[in-house]
Amino acid sequence: MFFDGRFNDLCGAQSEMSRYNQRMSKLKGRRKQLGVAQPQATHASGATYQTYKETQRLVIRPWDDYDAEELFELAKEPEIGFWCGWEPHKHIEDTLFVLHNFLEVSETYAICLKDSGKVIGSIGLHFKGNTDLTDKDDECELGYWVGKAYWNNGYVTEAANEMIRHAFMDLDVSTIWCGYYDGNDRSKRVQEKLGFIYHHTSYNVEVRQLNTTRTGHVNYLTKEKWCKKA
Ligand SMILES: CC(C)(COP(=O)(O)OP(=O)(O)OC[C@H]1O[C@@H](n2cnc3c(N)ncnc32)[C@H](O)[C@@H]1OP(=O)(O)O)[C@@H](O)C(=O)NCCC(=O)NCCS
Repeated sequence: MFFDGRFNDLCGAQSEMSRYNQRMSKLKGRRKQLGVAQPQATHASGATYQTYKETQRLVIRPWDDYDAEELFELAKEPEIGFWCGWEPHKHIEDTLFVLHNFLEVSETYAICLKDSGKVIGSIGLHFKGNTDLTDKDDECELGYWVGKAYWNNGYVTEAANEMIRHAFMDLDVSTIWCGYYDGNDRSKRVQEKLGFIYHHTSYNVEVRQLNTTRTGHVNYLTKEKWCKKA
């Protein structure tokens, strides 16, 4: 996940708390209405689809300000941000800033346990302008993480399989790109399990928020290959 520079500026975080309080009062009661609703979204291609998705063990649904506290508990763990290229969240204001600017956007979803509704991670498709991996309209990058307590349960593979289906079948994407930083063998393994194929390695990739450079490996999956496997 080679993020662009939008994570650099967290200085707007102070005002996030007051925006959060305002939104929370407006949102009271809305969650109840949304509980069983299946809101639809329309993609640039004109495709209409459900924004709430279910797999065997998971619900994959849009992020909401209500998720701030659960998200903070997950994102304050340094190992998550380290591999994704961002700073661990230090204050709930950091979490709110990230929710408002990066997560409460089209095609980025909270991964939740179906049984409890608990938020365990994030998964998203990043299109032209929000990814360094492609500038084509019909391609995207897949990005994901789950809280450390939930690793190695197959959750990201399960969520990603649904997002891949969604990208190819609902959004008519032709190719999905997915990367990982050198040494992230867990993510490498996830991409292997999903059927991604090695494409190239980039050296000295700027990781702006962590003020460093790294080696990044880039994989891809075409709709054609996925259809043959499915
Ligand atoms: C990478 C990550 C998303 C994987 O999520 P997950 O839900 O644990 O993934 P899964 O359980 O579906 O699969 C993990 C696989 O990695 C394997 N694995 C675990 N530790 C490993 C290691 N040190 N080396 C190699 N493989 C490893 C697991 O055995 C499993 O493979 P298997 O099913 O063949 O046994 C999760 O560890 C994470 O969020 N890490 C921090 C953030 C991150 O790296 N995000 C991705 C950025 S590219």
